[in-house]
Formats: sequence, structure tokens, C-alpha cells
Amino acid sequence: MAHQPPLILGLESSCDETAAAVVAGGTQVLSNVIATQHDLHARYAGVVPEIASRAHLERLIPVLREALQESGITESDLQAIAVGHRPGLIGSLLVGVSAAKALAWSWSLPLIGIDHVQAHIHAGLLEAPPVEYPALGLVVSGGHSSLFLVQSPLEITLLGKTIDDAIGEAYDKAATILNLGYPGGPKLDAIAQQGDASAHELPVSLLDSQSLNFSFSGLKTALLYAVCGQPIGRGSDARLPRNAEQLSSQQIADFAASFQLAAIRAITIKLNRALDHNPVSTLLVGGGVSANSRLRRDLVELAEHRHLDLRLPAMDFCLDNAAMIAGAAAPRFEAGLFDDLTLSAAPQSAIS
Ligand code: KG4
Ligand code: ZN
Repeated sequence: MAHQPPLILGLESSCDETAAAVVAGGTQVLSNVIATQHDLHARYAGVVPEIASRAHLERLIPVLREALQESGITESDLQAIAVGHRPGLIGSLLVGVSAAKALAWSWSLPLIGIDHVQAHIHAGLLEAPPVEYPALGLVVSGGHSSLFLVQSPLEITLLGKTIDDAIGEAYDKAATILNLGYPGGPKLDAIAQQGDASAHELPVSLLDSQSLNFSFSGLKTALLYAVCGQPIGRGSDARLPRNAEQLSSQQIADFAASFQLAAIRAITIKLNRALDHNPVSTLLVGGGVSANSRLRRDLVELAEHRHLDLRLPAMDFCLDNAAMIAGAAAPRFEAGLFDDLTLSAAPQSAIS
């Protein structure tokens, strides 16, 4: 079958997922292979950078082979190699960037470095019809909670971002407080479905009345004190009087649901504010937290109310993946925006 050009191979290794994908025409996903490292990091309750880089090194070539095989094309059909080169853990990024450079050089293909945050905005376009611009972009992940005005796939302006924790990070910390294990976001989401969201009134941080920025650290601390009590003592002697082990499963579910209500309310309030000032007809959502059941439900409601074309990525494209990298590279390919073999990795996003 003939595929829409360009045919791009994408690589992603910014955190704890090693991924490769082939995407045609920026939206048609021919393969999307993801090797997660959750099993390696679970005992440390968080990603250990050294372990992540080594695991990428071991897994990248098998993942790449599988992605090419599944796509049904060969390397001679490819038109470019795209790689997520920022933001992320530097050792992890370097594995993907070095591999992408080697492939681009040896197959004589152009190289395209992609900002991972921009790729999350593109995720809602995968396997979906084209959208109308300008759009509003919302990225909710382990590292980012940001709102963007997306004039076109290549013109993206930051409207607001978190001033402390990202929403995914807050979910993961809340899950640790509630003893739910790692990775916390999906576990908290699941358990919240059995809980009563009105059981505890946790703070929704709005900052000042016009702000489009987010803040989630106050919510996390409020949950900690609600679950464990106020600290006794000061400085290094301070201790918390209780912990989640003393709670029943219903009480844990109630805390989870109450946390989730406050976290997601902050998102929908800021989205409404952004829409009041930026009358767009499209809302592009991406990042790991876009897999959250309550956020998805509330966004569908908001989009219906405001007559928006809402693009929630399919589950496979919410969490880190390489299809979004290869997809986001298509507009750069069309515009001739290529990188050379000096492409480097960077810990920060260029847009957020
Ligand atoms: O986009 P992503 O895979 O990695 C980053 O770019 O950070 O996002 C990972 C984050 C983690 O914090 C994870 O707990 C969160 O997304 N997450 C969720 C859900 N699934 C993943 N948070 C809430 N509900 C979920 N269902
Ligand atoms: Zn991500």
C-alpha cells in the first residue's frame, strides 16, 4: 500500500520508555513500539537516571528492529529520522540522539530533533483527521503542566505553566503518600473511581485572577497533612503522627478521589480562562496525565459546553511514545527544517 509522504522513523528515550515508531504523513501510525522500564524503577519508587540510560542502550536496537518490521517498510523507504532531543534526563536523551545520528548518517537521511513537549501536543493528531488552527494546546505530564496557543504546528506560544510541581509529579507524590506504589498516577486514577470526591476539601490553586500558570505543590502538602496529620517537632526531628497504613481502603479511595477533583479542577478552570482570552475552536491535549479517566471526562464536558473540537490522544499516544515524535517531525520535514550531526540533547524544553 502506498503511504502518504513523508515516511519518518521516530525515536524516543527521554525518560523511562524506550520507543520507536514509523509514521506516514505526520498522522498515519504504521508502527508504535514502546519498551517500558517500570519494572526496573519500581523498587526505588521513581526513575533512577543511571539505570534508565543503561536500559535504553540495551533496548533501543531491538525496539527499532521491531518498529521497522511491524511497519512493513524497509529503511530504504524512509525519508527522515526524528528523535526527541529535549527535555528529559540527559543520559537517557543521549542514547536516542546518538542512535538517531548514526542511523541518519549511515542511511543518508535528514535528521530532525524534536522537542518532546511539542510532540505531546501533536499526539492528538495521530490517527485522526486534520484540525483547524489556531488551537489551544494542553500538556499534562510527569514533567510539564503547560498551556499553549498553537497558531500552526510550527508556531507555538506558551501561555502558562506550573510554577512548582507538574501535575503528573503531584499525582505520583500523592500516590506515594497514599501508599499506592509506582507508577502512582494510573494507580491513583483507578482507586479514585471507588472514592467520594467530596469527602475532603483540598485546595485548588488558582494563583491570581488572571494567571494561566499552575501550582500543585500546595495540593500535595495539603493531602500529606490530611492523611498523616500536622508534623510534630521541628527541623530534622519533625515527624508525622500517622500514615496511610492506618486508613481503610475506602478512606484511601476517598482521599484519592478528593485529590483528583482538586487537581483536575485547576486544569479546567485555567483552560476556561485561556479560552476566554483566546477564542479557538480546537483543543489539543497530550502527556501521560491525558490518560486520566476523570480529566478525559471533564474535558469532554468542557469541549461540549464550549463547542470545541477536542483531540484527546488514543491511550497508546498519551504516555511517552515515538509515534508523536515522528508525527511532529512531519511539519519540520515539509518546511525543510533539518538538524545536522551536531544535534545535542538538552534537559529543558525550548517551548515550556
Ligand atoms: O508523558 P509521560 O509519559 O512522561 C513525561 O513526559 O513526563 O507522563 C508520565 C506521567 C506520570 O507522572 C504518570 O503518573 C502520569 O503521567 N499518568 C497519570 C495517568 N497515567 C499516567 N496520571 C494520572 N492518571 C493517569 N491515568
Ligand atoms: Zn512525556
